[in-house]
Amino acid sequence: MITKEYINDVKTNGNGALAKAINGLKDTSSLTYFFENLGFLPKDFDGSLLLPFLNHESSNIRFWIVKNLGKLGDTKYIKPIAKIAKEDTDSMVRREAVSSLGRMRNEKNIPILFNLLSDRDPKILAQVIRGLLVFKGNETVDTQLKQLVHHPNEFIQQVIQKEYFPKKIMDSHFPHAKTYEYLNNVVVHGDVREILQSVPEDSIHLTFTSPPYYNARDYSIYPSYNAYLQFLADVFEKVHRATKEGRYFILNTSPIIIPRVSRQHSSKHYPIPFNIHPLLVDMGWEFIDDIVWLKPEASVKNRNAGFLQHRKPLAYKPNPVTEYLMVYRKKSDKLIDWNIREYDRKTIEESKVLGNYETSNVWHIDPTFDKNHSAVFPVELCNRVIIFYSFKGDVVFDPFAGSGTVGKAAIALERSFFLAEKDEKYFQLIKKNLGNKSLFSNKEAQFLTLNDFTALTKI
Ligand SMILES: C[S@@+](CC[C@H](N)C(=O)[O-])C[C@H]1O[C@@H](n2cnc3c(N)ncnc32)[C@H](O)[C@@H]1O
Repeated sequence: MITKEYINDVKTNGNGALAKAINGLKDTSSLTYFFENLGFLPKDFDGSLLLPFLNHESSNIRFWIVKNLGKLGDTKYIKPIAKIAKEDTDSMVRREAVSSLGRMRNEKNIPILFNLLSDRDPKILAQVIRGLLVFKGNETVDTQLKQLVHHPNEFIQQVIQKEYFPKKIMDSHFPHAKTYEYLNNVVVHGDVREILQSVPEDSIHLTFTSPPYYNARDYSIYPSYNAYLQFLADVFEKVHRATKEGRYFILNTSPIIIPRVSRQHSSKHYPIPFNIHPLLVDMGWEFIDDIVWLKPEASVKNRNAGFLQHRKPLAYKPNPVTEYLMVYRKKSDKLIDWNIREYDRKTIEESKVLGNYETSNVWHIDPTFDKNHSAVFPVELCNRVIIFYSFKGDVVFDPFAGSGTVGKAAIALERSFFLAEKDEKYFQLIKKNLGNKSLFSNKEAQFLTLNDFTALTKI
């Protein structure tokens, strides 16, 4: 059996010993092992020993040969490697060939890489782009690459966008970790669409909300399902504008069942999360995760009574024990590391999520029932969202505040809140829930009319 030590010995004994050793290896697995472990190649290594294996039937062997030829960086191997890049039947081998051409950083390879720009495999194309970006600034290269901004593959578009058409970051009035004083611990009474008109761009760190239901409760009457979706889209587009670069929006929704009006009709199930998702992505929210909020079955409405009796197929109605937390990030060229680095060390240290935490995307949390509001968040749900998706001192926004649970959790976790609520009754309820001065260590809560808030933003 050959070992790495044996391969090392052979390498140091020159090309003659190498040729002999290679000739002595007859089976595919020994050859693969040998080529995989060739490691660093001596200056006088004769790559032509490897060339015949470019036609080997094993794609593994072809892969390692291409990789080793690439290491040599010798222009005399450009042609065979380019042939593999174009013609090999295995995409991993082709990708390695393109990567080898790129690593050579040789201008002679530019036309070969251009030739591969029409490759149908996006992974190969990404590798070609990487190889060409070494020559960024070369007019012909830039012209060719810029055209790919219209490529059908979204990953390719994104790479080119970032390299050649980076979004202009707004000149924010504040460093990323800070925001306007008038958004700290404020509740505004009014339609959130109007309230958001006065909220500057790039000012909110995190939004967590549960929208009004479609015709399911008395506070939410919309002329049609489509009008309801448009209303939500309008609000979330405004939230997007107000959200800081690369920050999160977590939307709690679930499909909703409108009960049948009589035995002659059937109930209707509206898949809200699935219908709202494409609208969110279109307006610039990047989908990050779906978290499932799982409730005990005993806490939800039972739909099984009929089926339990008759057991007839097609009439099965499972009890809906889940809701979604759909996690989005304001699309950004910047990585999350950038967002984190915008905070000082102390804040990062103090915001760390220590101890046990939920590692899966299924969160088992009991629902909360409240005699004053029919659809309140459990505080535990808010706590998790806030600790996972914000830092201490951040502003957490809820456009549909209801009883103000998000605000309560935010304060307890040393963040501040910004809340909007349209209904006078619920605005008063928030006042009752959050008006307690002892809750506040920094700025006491303010309860404002839309006009007062707008005036405040203009000072
Ligand atoms: C599902 S509830 C939110 C409950 C909240 N998560 C809680 O824990 O209490 C939705 C709330 O949105 C409010 N709302 C509906 N349309 C609104 C609008 N256009 N602007 C502001 N609030 C609105 C409703 O009055 C309702 O209180």
